[in-house]
Amino acid sequence: MSYQLTDEQFMIQTMVRDFAREVLLATAMERDLTKEFPGENLKKMGELGLMGMMVPPEYDGAGADTVSYVLALQEIAYACASTAVIMSVHNSIVCETINRFGTDEQKQAYLKPLAAGEIIGAFAMTEPHAGSDPVNQSTSALRDGSHYIINGTKRFITSGKTAGVTIITAKTDKAKRHKGISAFIVRKGTQGFLVGKTEKKMGLCASDTTDLVLDNCRIPAENLLGQEGDGFKIAMTALDGGRIGIAAQSLGVAQAALDAAVSYAREREQFGQPISKFQGLRWMLADMATEIEAARQLTLSAASMKDRDEKYTKQASMAKLFASEMVNRVTAKALQIHGGYGYTKEYPVERFYRDARVFTIYEGTSEILRVVIANHLLGDRYVGTLR
Ligand code: CAA
Repeated sequence: MSYQLTDEQFMIQTMVRDFAREVLLATAMERDLTKEFPGENLKKMGELGLMGMMVPPEYDGAGADTVSYVLALQEIAYACASTAVIMSVHNSIVCETINRFGTDEQKQAYLKPLAAGEIIGAFAMTEPHAGSDPVNQSTSALRDGSHYIINGTKRFITSGKTAGVTIITAKTDKAKRHKGISAFIVRKGTQGFLVGKTEKKMGLCASDTTDLVLDNCRIPAENLLGQEGDGFKIAMTALDGGRIGIAAQSLGVAQAALDAAVSYAREREQFGQPISKFQGLRWMLADMATEIEAARQLTLSAASMKDRDEKYTKQASMAKLFASEMVNRVTAKALQIHGGYGYTKEYPVERFYRDARVFTIYEGTSEILRVVIANHLLGDRYVGTLR
């Protein structure tokens, strides 16, 4: 890899690679079939510091940088994409958000068990009629003395069923559009906070995706994150980091697909020689490797901008857009190289292909990411490079 890693980043990458290939890889195919939530593995990941990677040590986190997090998430996704999405939402969207916007009391109460992997975090903004356009969400939160009463339905929530803590957005003032949205921390088991239907999905089968129903759910006012009206900005900031996470997942799955394709192409013989001798295949493999490398550089660059506290919204969107579209091309080619066997469950490439499909959809569709990038190009903030 041409990106220069520090000794610590290299050490984290090696440690997570060993763990992921020893513990997660062998059982990923089985989890895909049984749809079993990887609870025990996530506990082990908590012990290794992978569930609070960027949480400061004072809240029991690993205090690692975003580049290390990207390297770790790639390794987890290489072995098991279902486990990776749980880790990604938990770290990028939940822990990072509480760490950035939470009070010290909130950090003490929630970051510590999250970082230890004792509980899993979820983020609930999407609704049945508000996906790409979250400003038009209809969940409401009404202040009632020292509490808020929340009503509404959230949809497509990663870890909705298993999460111990969920960040929920809701309208505290319908007249104010995005400035009327607030964010709340809701614990599992709170009265009126119910898990709705679980989606039957094409891929990422060991990660649960559910509806969450808030039926007169009463939560203490101290569970408000930031101030009333901060919710949309909190969510957008969370998604900037989250999009780097999805780019990292894309890289992990793409690398797994490339490695599988190289190995198959070397061993499979047709017309009296390994199919890796045919130029058509060699060019496919070369394109796959080149695209992965380009996505890797874009993702690490966005991560290091975040680490340097620079504005990185555009770069995170570019990384997620390019990497998620790249992994769809790469997994399709890996399946093609496997021929008929690629279409069967005997080989892992059909799972890679199914798992990757959602990467261009969740945490900002490719179309929304192009909107974000174009807004940066055409808005007041764009200065260009020509003087
Ligand atoms: N960081 C901080 N603030 C931001 C921001 C960012 N990245 N992007 C926008 N904002 C602020 C703007 O500055 C503006 O604030 P002011 O009014 O104070 O100036 C405000 O937010 C509104 O901005 P826009 O006018 O640009 O908002 P918009 O309504 O046009 O929407 C959007 C912008 C980019 C389309 C946004 O709605 C969006 O990202 N949509 C996609 C939603 C999404 O990704 N959903 C995924 C759900 S989560 C998920 O999938 C989780 C899971 O479980 C896997």
